[in-house]
Amino acid sequence: MEQAKRPETMERITTPELAKAFIDEQVAALQKQIGDKKVLLALSGGVDSSVVAALLIKAIGQQLVCVHVNHGLLRKGEPEQVIKVFRDEMKANLVYVDATERFLGKLAGVSDPETKRKIIGGEFIEVFAEEAKKLEGIEFLAQGTIYPDILESEQGIKAHHNVGGLPPELNFELVEPVKLLFKDEVRVVGKELGLPDNMVYRQPFPGPGLGVRCPGAISRDRLEAVRESDAILREEFAKNGLAGKVWQYFTVVPDFKSTGIIDGKRSFAWPVIVRAVNTKDAMTATVENVPFELMQHITDRIVHEVAGVNRVLYDFTPKPTATIEYE
Ligand code: XMP
Repeated sequence: MEQAKRPETMERITTPELAKAFIDEQVAALQKQIGDKKVLLALSGGVDSSVVAALLIKAIGQQLVCVHVNHGLLRKGEPEQVIKVFRDEMKANLVYVDATERFLGKLAGVSDPETKRKIIGGEFIEVFAEEAKKLEGIEFLAQGTIYPDILESEQGIKAHHNVGGLPPELNFELVEPVKLLFKDEVRVVGKELGLPDNMVYRQPFPGPGLGVRCPGAISRDRLEAVRESDAILREEFAKNGLAGKVWQYFTVVPDFKSTGIIDGKRSFAWPVIVRAVNTKDAMTATVENVPFELMQHITDRIVHEVAGVNRVLYDFTPKPTATIEYE
């Protein structure tokens, strides 16, 4: 596929005025490209696909069909937020697919990390393609490809498209309105389009979602412990001014138990590992120095509010030697 190149003269979008100019230009270009045809978009709720959705809603309104696939591995409140922002507030045409049972069923008993990733990626394409086949008259597929995706795919680091393996009978023309932008520019554009801050400034979240933070075979109760502890960590980081400062922070619940005491009784439960890291490009990362008192408070909340957990551990390991995620 021929790849676009960012012109050297292209100004970095750093201000609301520059974002507005970009939006006006893209809206006109999208209207010209799409005409009265329909466009399909896989809307994860991440910043890139959300900005593409908002741009397309502005340009073509109801000709856009967004599909949000809930694979059961999203963070607490995420599917609800996608529905609230895009269906309720922006009045978008949104198809919500709760495929939780299907994904967790396929993943049951699977402990190898690469096999887990393949199942999640493959199943996602299948669910998305099934939804696409139900829709009439779609000619375009929108994607939240950004410039680093193009650069990385050129360098052979990763394949850039999220839905790259669609079956050949779904022969769509691509619409990629933010493909020349860097992440910080996408955020400025998202803000100008009126997306909520917690969508625009979201930390990176891997495609396989909480699946890679529930190492080994995913069980529903351990997955729930990951989701609930992650929600507490995010809430406390937001309250204490760390949310905009730390690059990525999350919890992991490994598949082993240890002895503890809960309500005066012996417990045998999982630990929650807290990870908080800073990086520029995710190739290397350093560990955030989270205040000790805050860690004590987070620990207290997690062990009392999350079922099946009796310990909290902090991961002090930079990348390398550790990767950021656990699988
Ligand atoms: P690692 O764990 O390799 O992660 O140090 C580097 C960054 O990439 C994110 N990551 C992923 N993102 N799909 C994604 O979209 C994935 O499979 C995936 N694995 C890791 C990770 O969250 C971190 O920001």
